[in-house]
Amino acid sequence: MLEVKPLRIGNVEVSPPLVLAPMAGVTNALFRKLFKPFGFGLTVSEFVSADALVRTNRHSLEMIEVYAEERPTAVQLHGSDPTVMAQAAAFIEECGADIVDINFGCPAPKITKGGDGAAILKDPVLAVAICAAVRKAVKRAPVTVKMRLGWDATNYTYLDIARRAAAVGIDAFTLHGRYGKQFYKGEADWSHIRQLKAELSVPVIGNGDIADPLDAMRRLQETGVDAVMVGRAALGNPWLVRDIAAALRGQRPPPAPTPRERADFALLHYDAMIERYGDRSGTLQMRKHLGWYVKGIHGASTLRERMNAAIDPAEVRALIAQAAAADVEQPDRQT
Ligand SMILES: Cc1cc2nc3c(=O)[nH]c(=O)nc-3n(C[C@H](O)[C@H](O)[C@H](O)COP(=O)(O)O)c2cc1C
Repeated sequence: MLEVKPLRIGNVEVSPPLVLAPMAGVTNALFRKLFKPFGFGLTVSEFVSADALVRTNRHSLEMIEVYAEERPTAVQLHGSDPTVMAQAAAFIEECGADIVDINFGCPAPKITKGGDGAAILKDPVLAVAICAAVRKAVKRAPVTVKMRLGWDATNYTYLDIARRAAAVGIDAFTLHGRYGKQFYKGEADWSHIRQLKAELSVPVIGNGDIADPLDAMRRLQETGVDAVMVGRAALGNPWLVRDIAAALRGQRPPPAPTPRERADFALLHYDAMIERYGDRSGTLQMRKHLGWYVKGIHGASTLRERMNAAIDPAEVRALIAQAAAADVEQPDRQT
C-alpha cells in the first residue's frame, strides 16, 4: 500500500499532502477557514493582482487576509512585471502569507489579455525573470508557482520554465494538466505531471479533475507527486475532502453526511458570510455556494431558483431548512 508522507515546502509542513486549489471568487479567508478542518494540509488564496496590491487597493488588501485557523496558507499573486511582482510578494510576506504563490495558469481573457496568468507560459524568459525577482524579494517564506502545461497545445513550456525556475530558487510547483487555451475542457493530462515530478528535485503538486478518494490515491501512486490539489469537486462538498484525507491515512471513508448535516453546514457557512459581509452582500455571495450545497438532492433546481431569488436572510435560512428535509439522489450528485 502507498505510504503517504507529509510534504515539506521550505519551512512549511503540508500534512496531509492535500491542498485546496485557489479559486477566484471562492477561496477567500472565510471559505478556507471553514473548509480547512475537513482535512486540507494547505490552503491557497484566490489570486490577487500584484498591480492592485502595490497601489494598496482596499479590496486587494482584504483578499490577502489570512486567518490563524487556516494556516498554513499560500497567498497567490498574478502579474507580469517582475519589479511589481517582487514588491507585491515582499508585501504579502510581511502581511503574514506562509507561502508566496505565483500564478502562471489563469486562462481568463481579462487576465491573459494583460499578459498575466497562462499568457506568461508563452514567454519562458519572462516567467523565469518573475520567479527570480520574487524569490529575491521574499525573505523567509517559500515561493511556489502554479502553472498549466503551456499556452496552447503546440507549445508546452512547463518543463523548460520549471527547470529554470527551480534553478533560481522556486521551492515547489503545482501543475494543472491542461493548457491555457483549453480552459476547463477535456481532461487533465497527468502524464505531464508525472514527467515534471520525474524531472525536478523540488516538490510537485498535481492538479486536475480529482473527484474522489480513489482518484487522489491513484494519482499519487501513478505519478509520484508529493501532494494533490483539489478544486471544483470540493465546492459544496467538504465531506469529499474528509474522505480523501481518510484515504491518505489508509482509512475507509466515514459515513456520507445526511441531508441535515449538509444543510447544517450550509447554514453555518451562510451565517458566517452574513456576519462577515452583511445581509445583502453575504446573501448574494452565498448564492453560488448554496447552489453547490443542494447539488444532488431531490428538487435541487427548484430550490436553487428560489435561493437565487431570496434576499431576506430569514427566507434563505428557511430554504436551507427545506433542503435538510429533502432526500438525496444517489449515487451521483449530478442534479
Ligand atoms: C471558479 C474558479 C476559480 C479559479 N481561480 C483560480 C485562481 O485564482 N488561481 C489559480 O491558480 N487557479 C484558479 N482556478 C483553477 C483551480 O485552482 C484548479 O487549477 C482547476 O480548477 C483544476 O482543478 P480541479 O479539477 O480540481 O477543479 C480556478 C478554478 C475555478 C473553477
